[in-house]
Amino acid sequence: MSNIQSVLSENRVFPVNPEFTKQANIKSEQEYQQMVADASNNYSGYWANLARQYIDWKAPFSKSLNDSNPPFYTWFEDGKLNVSYNCLDRHVANNPHKTAIIFESDAGHIETVTYKELLTKVSRFANGLKSLGIVKGDRVIIYMPNSIEAIVAMQACARIGAIHSVVFGGFSAKAIHERIHDAQAKLVITSDAQKRGGKIFPLNQDVKEALSLPGCESVEKVVIHRRTGEKVEWDNKRDIWWHDVIKNQSDECEPEWVEAEHPLFILYTSGSTGTPKGVQHASGGYLLGAITTMKWVFDIKDDDIYWSTADVGWITGHTYLCYGPLAVGATQIVFEGIPTFPAADRFWRMIETHKVTIFYTAPTAIRALIKLGGDLPNNFDLSSLRLLGSVGEPINPEAWMWYYETIGKSKCPIVDTWWQTETGSHILAPIPGITALTPGSCTRSIPGIFVDIVDEAGNLVTDNNGGYLVIKKPFPSQIRTIWNNPERFIKAYYPEDIANGKYYVAGDSASRDTMGYYHILGRIDDVLNVSGHRLGTMEIESALVAHPGVAEAAVVGRPHDIKGESIVAFVVCKGQLPTGSEKDFLINELREWVAKEIGALAKPDEIRFGENLPKTRSGKIMRRLLRSLAKGEAITQDISTLENPHILDQLK
Ligand code: WT7
Repeated sequence: MSNIQSVLSENRVFPVNPEFTKQANIKSEQEYQQMVADASNNYSGYWANLARQYIDWKAPFSKSLNDSNPPFYTWFEDGKLNVSYNCLDRHVANNPHKTAIIFESDAGHIETVTYKELLTKVSRFANGLKSLGIVKGDRVIIYMPNSIEAIVAMQACARIGAIHSVVFGGFSAKAIHERIHDAQAKLVITSDAQKRGGKIFPLNQDVKEALSLPGCESVEKVVIHRRTGEKVEWDNKRDIWWHDVIKNQSDECEPEWVEAEHPLFILYTSGSTGTPKGVQHASGGYLLGAITTMKWVFDIKDDDIYWSTADVGWITGHTYLCYGPLAVGATQIVFEGIPTFPAADRFWRMIETHKVTIFYTAPTAIRALIKLGGDLPNNFDLSSLRLLGSVGEPINPEAWMWYYETIGKSKCPIVDTWWQTETGSHILAPIPGITALTPGSCTRSIPGIFVDIVDEAGNLVTDNNGGYLVIKKPFPSQIRTIWNNPERFIKAYYPEDIANGKYYVAGDSASRDTMGYYHILGRIDDVLNVSGHRLGTMEIESALVAHPGVAEAAVVGRPHDIKGESIVAFVVCKGQLPTGSEKDFLINELREWVAKEIGALAKPDEIRFGENLPKTRSGKIMRRLLRSLAKGEAITQDISTLENPHILDQLK
């Protein structure tokens, strides 16, 4: 709440830097307003023009938006393209020796690839995938660290029309298993291990464990990239080395020309109910969102050195690492490690070394780095920077100010970008040459995206009041469906009880100030945002309840200075209320249990035990009471409907 209050009372406005405007891709408010007007007057034509301008099509499309079967919208459906062709071949034709990726490993080794070299790598690996029997439409799980090879693997899938599903390296074997099973994947691509912060994480072992669980029969082969040289427990029938897959393969691979709606990838994300949802993105519309926002929000230019610190396992690592920067022919940094290794100056050192011009990271990293050494950046030359970005969670005004002054030297605009796995690309974000900034606000919508704030009935919510953040028109880069579960797609994003299912409901609440700027207030569903990682409370609860000693569990978020939110679990055991050393033992065991079930990122920060949970007489858990208890607040809510008030004392 204190964060929300300070955001809402924020009244500092930072005007645009005229030097920036002079060179910007969008140079004036009139230009922005003209784009919005064009989109309002001819929505479908507006996006069609952009799609023709920015994408190389093998077969042109004649239809732009098809909204005949809402909410299953399609875009450019009779056009044919290949995303990897758009990311590689067309740049190789113009500027083959331009650097595509500067990779820096955890230990600090640097490896550079040009567009031509990257195309060769992608083509050889794509041919290798074909030799393993992978064809258009097959699902491929990728479980790899940030690396040139992870990008090669994703691009190679795109090249042959295979649908990748990247699993973040912090997820457990169980989580990999769940995704393999849901996607019915035919192939898994992994590394022997991953090095982060000097520590080794045996990725291949997690894959082995996942495949040993029932329900992975669809997997025919596992491709293993040798990254660290860690010993691999070899399975003769199933395993094949990456270097053997590419051996004797041709350097050329004709792209598979796919329909614009052909799924490019599935990325699993957490919702308020059930297992993670396989968010399915299409090829054409997704690519268009990536390209337009690279140009408009990141103001990308030919000579930029762009760096997004995101991991390929999340949507930011898809749109703003693997696809967007390559689609616009940029030079980018790909970093394997973490901001605090070998020391908390790693980011600033790398910005100096590589002369980074555009830097995109998450508020949680900024807050952690302020705490570990707020003046460390002053030891480095950060003068190459011209634009800063923030993503993943609301940025508190204090962190924003530090980022603006200490990193950006009060000359770099900060683009606070609000979007989601489901939106594929930025939705709310400043246009850096024209939008004055307010700390903590992601300002206005991307031209051509129509956002609003409404109540349940769909009525507009007026200035400074909170409501549901909705997107009123279908847009090219949006989620097409939940893999294999169209009913769940409708329920989750076009729910009947909000505006009669007319609009895309983001799951966030927001308010709009008198300048027309949006302020994100947080999720309205049972989704937590822990260090920018999205987690469903239900998922963590299911993991806890799967433990043989647990009868019932409820999980809530508690505001946390660095992580944004921390995880507090209330647990009812099957036997007696645990006390003393037994309690400490169980807390530890349950935390490890959740790490095994989901991943270390989902470990509860605190676990409290009670004989029951606070419930209404009808048996519903009163979560708002649990939230107050977690925060240590006095209970001021009405507890007259509570069945078992004495429980509150136990859970304090
Ligand atoms: C949720 C989406 C978008 C890529 C990373 C997260 C929150 C995201 C912001 C921001 C306030 C933000 C929202 C959203 N969120 N960016 N700039 N300001 N909140 O993607 O895992 O799909 O999570 O992250 O709550 O719904 P994701």
